[in-house]
Amino acid sequence: MKINRNFDNLVPNYLFADVAKKTNAYIAAHPDKKVIKLGIGDVTLPLAPVVVEAMKKGAEDLAHKETFKGYPDYEGYEFLRQAISDYYKSFGVAVGADEIFVSDGAKSDCGNIGDIFSKDNVVLVTDPVYPVYVDSNIMAGREIVYATSNEANGFAALPDENVKADIIYLCSPNNPTGSAYNAEQLKAWVDYALKNDAIILYDSAYEAFITEDLPRSIFAIEGARKCAIEMCSLSKTAGFTGTRCGYTVIPKELERDGHNIYATWYRRQATKFNGVSWPVQCAAAAVFSEEGQKQIKENISYYQENARIIASALDELGIYYTGGKNSPYIWLKCPNNMGSWEFFDLLLNEANVVGTPGEGFGENGAGYFRLTSFGDRENTIEAVERIKKVLTNLSK
Ligand code: MLT
Repeated sequence: MKINRNFDNLVPNYLFADVAKKTNAYIAAHPDKKVIKLGIGDVTLPLAPVVVEAMKKGAEDLAHKETFKGYPDYEGYEFLRQAISDYYKSFGVAVGADEIFVSDGAKSDCGNIGDIFSKDNVVLVTDPVYPVYVDSNIMAGREIVYATSNEANGFAALPDENVKADIIYLCSPNNPTGSAYNAEQLKAWVDYALKNDAIILYDSAYEAFITEDLPRSIFAIEGARKCAIEMCSLSKTAGFTGTRCGYTVIPKELERDGHNIYATWYRRQATKFNGVSWPVQCAAAAVFSEEGQKQIKENISYYQENARIIASALDELGIYYTGGKNSPYIWLKCPNNMGSWEFFDLLLNEANVVGTPGEGFGENGAGYFRLTSFGDRENTIEAVERIKKVLTNLSK
C-alpha cells in the first residue's frame, strides 16, 4: 500500500503542537516556574449557566424512552438552525434556516469542505494564515497562492487582479493578525470572486468580538450569496472549544460547474458525518436565546478587557500591533528585529509567558508574534507585567 504522499509536503508538526511541545519541555525542566499560556486560542471561562442547564436537560432526555434521540438530522435540528438564522437577522443579515449545516466546529468544516472541490483548483490564502487552510489543501495536493498581509496594508490583504484563484479563504476578524475587513474591503473580495468564478470560504469564527461598525458576515455584502460559503463556530463566541459546535452557511442559489453547492455539501455530510449530539445542539440553541446572548456577552467582554490590557501595555512600550479591538488576538512586531521563534524563547525563558511565533502562520509572520486574550484576568495582568519588564530590560 501507499500513503498520501502529499503529507510529505507538510511542515513536520502542527504549529500549536510544536508550541505545546516546547512549552512542556520547559515546564518539565523548570517545575518551580509558573508559566502563563497566551499561545493557543483556548478559552478559560466556563460555559454560560443557561447553556449548561440546556445541556443537562438534553442529557436527561437521553435517559428516557419517550425523549430519547438517536441519529440527528445530517444538517442539524431545525430548532437550532432557526435560532442561528434569527441570530443572523439580529445584525441585519438574511440567512435561511434551510441554508445552515450544524457541525462540530469551523476547523473541521474549513478542512473538510475541500472534499467537494476538484484537486485542480488554485487556492488563495492571505499570509499570515490559520494553518488549517494551508495544511488541508496541501494534503489534497492543491496549488496554493498567497496574498500578502503586512504592515503596509494593516495585515489585511486585498485581492490582486493579476492573480487567478478558484477557492479563496478569508478570515475576518483575522486569525492570527486580529485585523478585520470593512465592508468596502470585503466587497473587493466578493467582486474578485465573482469575476473569477471563484468561491470564498469565509471563516467568521471571531465575529462576536467585533466592536466597531464592521460586517459580521460575508453575507452582509452584496453579491456574496453568489460566491461565498461562511463557517462559524461557538468555540470562541460561547466557550465551546471542548464542547464542539459550529455551523456552515451555504446559500441555496450558489452553483458552480453545473452543481448546486448546498446539495453537494449535503451529500458529503450525509456520507461522512453523523451530526452533533442532542445535548450539544440543545446547549448551542441556548447560546442564541435572549438570556444566552446576555451571558455569553459577559464572557466576551471579559476577554475584550484582557485584550485591552495587553494592547495598552504595547502602546506604552511603543510596539506596533494589530488586533485587540475587534479580535481576541494581538499581533505584535517582535522588538529589536528579533525572529519570532527567538522572541518565543525569550518570553518563555525570561518571562515564563507562552505566545505563538508569527512565522508559524506563514512567511509574512516572520518577526511577529501572537498573544491571545483568552487567559484569565489575573494571569493576563501578570503576563503583561512580566513582558513589560523583559522588554524594558531589553531596551536598556
Ligand atoms: C488558535 O489558537 O489559532 C485557535 O485556537 C485554533 C483553532 O481555533 O483551531
